[in-house]
Amino acid sequence: MSHTLSLNLHNIVFLVIGLTVVKLTLLGLGFLTLVKATKLRTFTVDNQRNIFLKDGQPFRYISGSLHYFRVPNMYWKDRMKKMKAAGLNSLQTYVEWSSHEPEPGMYNFSGELDLVKFLKTAQEVGLLVIFRPGPYICAERDMGGLPYWLMREKMDIKLRTNDPTYMKFVKKWFSTLLPIINPFLYKNGGPIVTIQVENEYGQVGICDFEYMTSLRDVLHDYLGKDVILFKTDIPHVGAYKCDNIDGVLVTADFGSGTNVKKAFETIRLFRKSGPLVVTEYYPGWMGHWGEPQANVSTKMICDTLDDILSANASVNFYMFHGGTNFGFKNGANMKYAPQPTSYDYTAPISEAGDPTPRYISISKIISKYVPLPGPLPKPAPKLSIGPLTLNWISSLLDAIPFLKGPDIVYSKYPKTFEELSQAYGFMVYSTVVTFITTDPAVLNVPGLHDRGYIFVEKKFMGVLSRSERICSLPLQVKQDQILTILVENQGRINSGNILDSKGLVSNVTLGSTILTNWLIQPLPLNNTDAIRSLQLSESSDLKNALSYSTSWPQVPGFFSVNFTLPKSLKAMDTFLDPTGWRKGVVFLNGFNLGRYWPVMGPQVTLYVPGSLLHLYPNNNTLTVLELEHAPCFPCNSIYKCSISSLPSCSIKFVKIPILNGPTPYLSLNEKLHKGQYVYH
Ligand SMILES: *[C@@H]1O[C@H](CO)[C@@H](O)[C@H](O)[C@H]1NC(C)=O
Ligand SMILES: *[C@@H]1O[C@H](CO)[C@@H](O)[C@H](O)[C@H]1NC(C)=O
Ligand SMILES: *[C@@H]1O[C@H](CO)[C@@H](O)[C@H](O)[C@H]1NC(C)=O
Ligand SMILES: *[C@@H]1O[C@H](CO)[C@@H](O)[C@H](O)[C@H]1NC(C)=O
Ligand SMILES: *[C@@H]1O[C@H](CO)[C@@H](O)[C@H](O)[C@H]1NC(C)=O
Ligand SMILES: *[C@@H]1O[C@H](CO)[C@@H](O)[C@H](O)[C@H]1NC(C)=O
Ligand SMILES: *[C@@H]1O[C@H](CO)[C@@H](O)[C@H](O)[C@H]1NC(C)=O
Repeated sequence: MSHTLSLNLHNIVFLVIGLTVVKLTLLGLGFLTLVKATKLRTFTVDNQRNIFLKDGQPFRYISGSLHYFRVPNMYWKDRMKKMKAAGLNSLQTYVEWSSHEPEPGMYNFSGELDLVKFLKTAQEVGLLVIFRPGPYICAERDMGGLPYWLMREKMDIKLRTNDPTYMKFVKKWFSTLLPIINPFLYKNGGPIVTIQVENEYGQVGICDFEYMTSLRDVLHDYLGKDVILFKTDIPHVGAYKCDNIDGVLVTADFGSGTNVKKAFETIRLFRKSGPLVVTEYYPGWMGHWGEPQANVSTKMICDTLDDILSANASVNFYMFHGGTNFGFKNGANMKYAPQPTSYDYTAPISEAGDPTPRYISISKIISKYVPLPGPLPKPAPKLSIGPLTLNWISSLLDAIPFLKGPDIVYSKYPKTFEELSQAYGFMVYSTVVTFITTDPAVLNVPGLHDRGYIFVEKKFMGVLSRSERICSLPLQVKQDQILTILVENQGRINSGNILDSKGLVSNVTLGSTILTNWLIQPLPLNNTDAIRSLQLSESSDLKNALSYSTSWPQVPGFFSVNFTLPKSLKAMDTFLDPTGWRKGVVFLNGFNLGRYWPVMGPQVTLYVPGSLLHLYPNNNTLTVLELEHAPCFPCNSIYKCSISSLPSCSIKFVKIPILNGPTPYLSLNEKLHKGQYVYH
C-alpha cells in the first residue's frame, strides 16, 4: 500500500510540473475527465472546405490497417512505430466479434484480444484510430468475423439483415463492446476519430436499409450523435445505392490503377460535400491456397497513391501490415477457395514485421506531402533451428481419447459442427455398413464441408475435396466394415453468401443407400495442454493403448519433438519449413501456428513469433498433425527402426520465409496469356 501511495505522489509531482497526458494514465483516477478539462479535443467534418478538422485545424489522415487479432500483442508497439516511421498518422483496425464472444455471453478482451491495450498503445505511439466494429468485417476471416453460433441459434438466420435473432445478438454484443471503447473516442481523450457502419454492405446486394439504419442508431446511442460515422464500398453507383443512409460519410475501397478522379466523382453523386476518403487502398493483395502469390506492381501502387494524396484525400492502406491467421481462423472465398495461414498480403511491412522494398517506395511518396519523423526501420534478425527429428506419436484416430475433446455423439443422420457446438477444427464421422454392397460401390458425400479423408476399418482409401468439387469415390467395402470420414473445416466463407456450416451438411450415400447411425467424434484440437502432453514415453497411457502390429508411422498422425535453444540466445522470430510434409497443423508449446500445405502453395513456411519460443534451459515441444504424408521411411520388417529414430522424419526452422512457392492453379495473367480466361 505505502509503495502505491508514494508512486502516486511521485506522479502528482510530475503532474504539477506539467508532464504529458500519457503519464497521467498511471494515476488511474479519471484521467480522461482531466484531459477534457484541460484541452478541448474535437474531430469534425468541414463541409465547406471538404476536409476533416482536428481541434479546429484542417486534417487528413494517412493510415494503415493493422489487425490486433493477427499480430502477437508483444509486437503491437513495434509495428505501430514502423507505421509511424513511414509517415502514417493513423491506423485502422477491425474488431473480430467471433473472437471476443466465442459463445453467447462469454466475453474475452484479454491477452491477444486486449483491445483496450491496443488502443492505448496506438495513442502512446501517436497514431489516431479508424475504428471498424462491424459486426461483419469480411477481412478474409472465418465467417467474416461473425460468430459461428449464430447459425446454431437459428439455422436459416438472415445474416447482415434486420432478422430479429441476428439483431438481438448484434445489439447485445454492441452493448458490451461500445461502452468499452467509448472512453477512447477522440472527444473523450482517446485516439478513435471515425467509426465504420457495417462493412462493404452496398456491394453484397442485400440492400436492407432498416438494418444499416439500426446499426447507425445503435452506434449513435452508445457513442453520441457527434461522432463521425462512415460507410465504404467499391466506388460503384449500384453499391452506394444499396447502403444509402443519412448521416454517414461515403468512402471508397480500391486498388492501384484505379482512376482516382472518377472514383471521387462517384462518391460525390451520393455525398455532395465533406472529406474524400479511401478506406481501403490496396498496397498488396490477399491469397488463396493453390493460387500464385499476388504480384502487384509497386510503381502502380505508388502512382495511384500519389493521385490520392494530391487530391487532398484521406487514405488507409489495407493492409499496411497483414500478420497471420493463427489457429483455424482463416476465411474462404466463394468458389470454395480457402485462404492460407499467412496474411502477409505482400503489404509494406512483411508478416514478420520487417520493412519491404514496397515500404521504402511508399514512404518516399508520402514524404512528398508530410515530413517523415526519422530514420526508416531495419529488418530484425531471425533464427534458424534444426533439422529436428520428430518422433511418431500415434495415428490421429487412435489419439482421439487423449485429445480430451468434447463427448462423442450418436446420431441417425450426420450432424454439422454448428449443431454440435463446435466452431473450428475437425470432426470424425463413423458408421458400420449394414448391407451387402456392390464391388466397388460409389461413396457420395455431396455435403462435404470442406475436405474429407475416407477410411475403411481405419485404412486410408482417398481424399474428397469441396474446393476441387470432388465429392465421390469408388470404394471396396464389405458388410459389417466400419466406414470413417474425417472432415476438415477449412474456414467459413467470408464474403457473399456467408451462411456456410461445416462438417457433413447433407446425407452420405453408398451406392443408392443413405448411410445411417453415425458415431461422431468432435476434434476441435483446442486443448493445448492435451496436445502438448501427447508424448510416447515408455510409461505413457498412449503407448499402452496403441497396438504395434501394424507398420508405422501412420497418417493422419501426430509427430513430436522436444528441443532446447542454445544458451544465451535471445527470443527471435523464425519460420517453420514443412517441405517434405504434405498437409497438416503445427503446434508450438501447445499454440496453434496454423495450417501448412506446401504442395498447394504458394505459402510454404509458417511464421513463428519469437514470443512463442521458450529460452534456455526450458524445453520446447513441437507437435505436428500430418494428415497425408510424412517424409519418413516406414518402419516395417524391412526398415527396422525404433520410436525414437525415424529416418528423415525431420523439420526445420529457417530464417527466410517462402510465401511464393509453386502452385497448381495459374495466375490471372497466365490464364489470359494461355487464352484460358473468358471475358463476360
Ligand atoms: C481469451 O483469449 C486469449 C487469446 O488471446 C486466450 O489465450 C485466453 O485463454 C482466452 N481466455 C478465456 C477465458 O477463454
Ligand atoms: C511480378 O511482376 C513483375 C512485373 O510487374 C515481373 O517482373 C516479376 O517477374 C513478377 N514476379 C513474379 C514472382 O511473378
Ligand atoms: C489541397 O489543399 C491545398 C491546401 O489547402 C490547396 O491549396 C489545394 O488547392 C488543394 N488541392 C485540391 C486538389 O483540392
Ligand atoms: C474447444 O472447442 C469446444 C467445441 O467447439 C468448446 O466447447 C470448448 O469450449 C473449446 N475450448 C477452448 C479452451 O476453447
Ligand atoms: C437425410 O435423409 C433423411 C431420410 O431421407 C431425411 O429425413 C433427412 O432430412 C436428410 N438429412 C439431410 C441433412 O439432408
Ligand atoms: C517434452 O517436454 C514436455 C514438457 O515441456 C514433457 O512433458 C515431456 O515429457 C517431454 N517429452 C520428452 C520425450 O522428453
Ligand atoms: C528437455 O527434454 C529432453 C528430452 O527431450 C530432456 O533430456 C531434458 O532433460 C529436458 N530438459 C528440461 C529442462 O526439461
